Amino acid sequence: MNEKFHIEQIIKKNYKSCLLRVDFNVPISDTNIILDNTRIHAVKKTIELLMNNKIKVILISHLGRPSGKKNLTFSLNKLVMEIENVLNYKVNLLELDDQQIKNKIDAINTNELILLENIRFFRDEENYSDIFSKKLSSLADFYINEAFAVSHRNHSSITGVPQYLPSYMGYKMYDEYNSVLNSNPQFKNSTAIFGGAKIDDKILILQNFIGKVETILIGGGMIKSFINSQDNNYNIAKMILNNGITRIILPDDILIKSNNTIKTKIIGDVSGDDQIVDIGPKSINKYSKIINDSNYILWNGPMGIFEVQETSIGTCKIVNSIEDNNTAYTVAGGGSTVQSIKQFGNFSNFNHVSTGGGAFMEFIENGSLPGINAIIENKLI
Ligand code: 3PG
Repeated sequence: MNEKFHIEQIIKKNYKSCLLRVDFNVPISDTNIILDNTRIHAVKKTIELLMNNKIKVILISHLGRPSGKKNLTFSLNKLVMEIENVLNYKVNLLELDDQQIKNKIDAINTNELILLENIRFFRDEENYSDIFSKKLSSLADFYINEAFAVSHRNHSSITGVPQYLPSYMGYKMYDEYNSVLNSNPQFKNSTAIFGGAKIDDKILILQNFIGKVETILIGGGMIKSFINSQDNNYNIAKMILNNGITRIILPDDILIKSNNTIKTKIIGDVSGDDQIVDIGPKSINKYSKIINDSNYILWNGPMGIFEVQETSIGTCKIVNSIEDNNTAYTVAGGGSTVQSIKQFGNFSNFNHVSTGGGAFMEFIENGSLPGINAIIENKLI
């Protein structure tokens, strides 16, 4: 690899310690079971290169949205065993605000990993702070970003640290950077499928896809924004619906949960209190046909609560339909999207499966991300 920011460039240097930003924001059940560990597997190759070169690795990650406060619900302690199992190294969890942190880091062997407790326990992470970025940078002599999924955020550990340390892209990050850049769609017969639960972030991104793809299929929690006038995003959703360029397709029927029973309703009959849990059979057929006729398919977000068998059919059929289309260029991204491909299909049947959700969408839309720019523009290597 010729690029100066590719991870393999570090072999020629004499670095001793690395701040490695990863995204271990993995889905966890109420009983603390890790539902998908793809994001941990994704950093394996990078970790191996560093460990084989006897470089001390200090992992930085966030988990959830603890809003700048220490909250044990979001502690990375929940992931320690899983990380040890997947990566095969002992993990030492350290607190960034521990007065002894530097001594503790020094005392740990290079054949063990260091993991800093959830970086979002500090308000200065999300608020971008030079002081905080400098403090993080003082812990190592170079930085690697292997956290594509959070590289759309202007956070201290993403865009701040590269101001102070020589910075590189990890293997997976580099791979995302290359593959996503290659997926620019032609308008004709291009389809984007949007679902999932993180609606607030997504509706704006969705708006930016107008004119970029011919058809957008809507599923999951996002449906509500289009049909419920009390929804915060209703006005934007209405504008999107009437855009006149890109066809926005809503499901004709959906599955709703009310009083613990699942019912199929036509979309016009859904009320504000109904919990949307999947798309219905008519919509599955309609969406599958459109997918079949497309030559570019981008997918982010499941159609409903696919973790529960009763409400998994919509998402499962979307995976199957995309995989059955052998001629289209197919890209998918997002934590739960990845999880559902794992459950109902196979990564190898897609052209590219990204670890990013919002980051993936923003990269496709803008052709760049703040975290990527910070590495490319790094002046210290
Ligand atoms: C994700 O899961 O999309 C990333 O980890 C980013 O998380 P965020 O949306 O809370 O910034």
